[in-house]
Amino acid sequence: MPRQKLVAGNWKMNTTLAEAKTLAGAVVAGVGTDDRVAVAVCPPFPWLLPVADVLKGSPVALGAQNVSAEKKGAFTGEVSPAMLLECGCRYVIIGHSERRHILGESDAAINHKVHSALDEGLHVILCIGETLTERERNLTERIVQRQVLAACTGLTDHHWARLTLAYEPVWAIGTGKVATPDQAQEAHAAIRATLRHFRGSAIADALPILYGGSVTADNAAGLLHLPDVDGVLVGGASLKADSFLGIVQAAKK
Ligand code: 13P
Repeated sequence: MPRQKLVAGNWKMNTTLAEAKTLAGAVVAGVGTDDRVAVAVCPPFPWLLPVADVLKGSPVALGAQNVSAEKKGAFTGEVSPAMLLECGCRYVIIGHSERRHILGESDAAINHKVHSALDEGLHVILCIGETLTERERNLTERIVQRQVLAACTGLTDHHWARLTLAYEPVWAIGTGKVATPDQAQEAHAAIRATLRHFRGSAIADALPILYGGSVTADNAAGLLHLPDVDGVLVGGASLKADSFLGIVQAAKK
């Protein structure tokens, strides 16, 4: 079965409430009822409920940018998987490089979160990717392999059906330096080969792998037609409806 393309917008810590509602409304209007490409927006936590209201009845899905590995209790400031579901989230981004590098999330912590979110019924967008130094030392393959295997330790076949990977080279995030189609395809194919080796062809062939890092409406088409690129995770360009919808359009071709 061909893998459906996903275009997801990671709004990060941006937008006022009014901007979030306007942006979500414009995405809903632009997507209409066309569900050939899966589309999701991931606003900051406090805007999840109001944005869910705007998305109601549209094929545009809601996602969160982070989640706790814990179910409930004394974890001040944390948000549980069940809370995200109750807010209307279908997706949650886990292991984004900003959380790994700025907030110190470890592979083990990410593995715990992936399990909790999938157990609860969320779809997980798991981010992986090498830094510039790692790429320059030819460590890209080894790093993404380690990240995938560590984050996915212990997952059952049932879990894998709700998992999406996002290859986001750290050097391409927010820098305007997008990976070339060759670099993206090479990394995606290596990730898929790793999964084929460790988890078998059925899982490797069904798993969607998104590319993220300086994706724009201008460069999206060149990435989205690659055989192992199943969609994109968009930061900056997801904050403007026109550019985000341009990327959705590119994914339909
Ligand atoms: P940019 O598209 O702004 O480079 O961000 C990518 C990203 O981090 C998406 O999660």
